[in-house]
Amino acid sequence: MQIQWGSQYNLGIKMIDDQHQWLINLYNKIDSAKSRNQPVEILGTYMKGLLHYTRFHFNAEENELKRIDYKQFVEHKDSHERFIKKINESLQEFDQGNEEVVVYVLDYLKDWLLNHIMREDKKYVPLMKTATNSMFFQSAAAAQSFERTI
Ligand SMILES: [Fe+2]
Repeated sequence: MQIQWGSQYNLGIKMIDDQHQWLINLYNKIDSAKSRNQPVEILGTYMKGLLHYTRFHFNAEENELKRIDYKQFVEHKDSHERFIKKINESLQEFDQGNEEVVVYVLDYLKDWLLNHIMREDKKYVPLMKTATNSMFFQSAAAAQSFERTI
């Protein structure tokens, strides 16, 4: 079943919201390929794309968490790593000929991602917004004092 993106999943941080939406988009692509019985090669390509993009997204998110010195960084990264491990294992099973593992991946992805956004990602939002704002004001102030010197 397709996932409809809703405002309840928005964190208000554009880069991360865009990436989450793209993950949902990938989920929907795999879901419709599976239900239309698309060839195994297509499913395989989408599954690899999913793993690849998820890694990219987690990396980007973790870099931001490091930047703001997020206290629960290790737990958050662990949760990302557990997810990658599961998807990786499923992809190996898929490559060994178990096509039905796609159904499991879809279920797992849907559950994990939506819960992760709502419960885990939402926890870092206030700090990330404050840190980003204060960096903006600091650089604006630095630019102003620089301008006064020239
Ligand atoms: Fe996350």
